[in-house]
Amino acid sequence: MDLRQLNTLPEKAKQILKKYPALDSVVFAAGYGQFGSLEEFSYPQIDSLMTVNFTSVAFLTRALLPGLKQKSHADLIFIGSEAALKGSRKGSIYCASKFALRGFTQALREECASSGVRVGLINPGMVKSQFFQELNFAPGEQRCQHLLPEDVAQAVSYILNANPQIVIDEINLNPLHKVVSFKK
Ligand SMILES: NC(=O)c1ccc[n+]([C@@H]2O[C@H](COP(=O)([O-])OP(=O)(O)OC[C@H]3O[C@@H](n4cnc5c(N)ncnc54)[C@H](OP(=O)(O)O)[C@@H]3O)[C@@H](O)[C@H]2O)c1
Repeated sequence: MDLRQLNTLPEKAKQILKKYPALDSVVFAAGYGQFGSLEEFSYPQIDSLMTVNFTSVAFLTRALLPGLKQKSHADLIFIGSEAALKGSRKGSIYCASKFALRGFTQALREECASSGVRVGLINPGMVKSQFFQELNFAPGEQRCQHLLPEDVAQAVSYILNANPQIVIDEINLNPLHKVVSFKK
């Protein structure tokens, strides 16, 4: 689905629930990065980044939550970012989208506290993935300079497999060395 098409999302969520009635865990990982000073962004670019990285997630969660609350146990796991923790240069809109996601998960966790739904947030540093394909920078090539998608998947697995009586609120993970390499 195209997450920019907000109005289609409630119906898509309904179809997912119908097709997968046993669904009890959702990982919200889709998102993208765009960086630059605020004045370099067009208005549609601001709208698109906030929509894909945050508003679509709120729409889908809104649509899936009633069904998940009826289960004895369910997990909602959101992929945030180190950009959810600290604003950084050229990251005004990306950071805003991830800060929004973090506030959302904190509030949602309280809201879900009387149900079996656990809400977890994972905030990775730089992960070597397609994320950087269109960007003018990337993490360093050495293994200690980037995370791999598998590292994030391991954090997801840790949350999913935790004792159902506990909730893991947030996991922050980073490569051992932070190295940003700029493309020519
Ligand atoms: N890579 C990093 O350094 C890093 C660090 C911290 C947090 N994150 C976050 O981690 C998450 C995953 O990123 P990644 O590193 O795995 O990047 P990625 O390899 O570029 O994957 C991004 C995923 O998001 C999907 N997506 C993007 N726009 C979409 C849209 N409009 N509708 C539906 N799906 C859309 C893409 O789908 P298609 O393949 O179909 O386009 C792709 O599956 C993102 O939320 C990102 O903000 C990444």
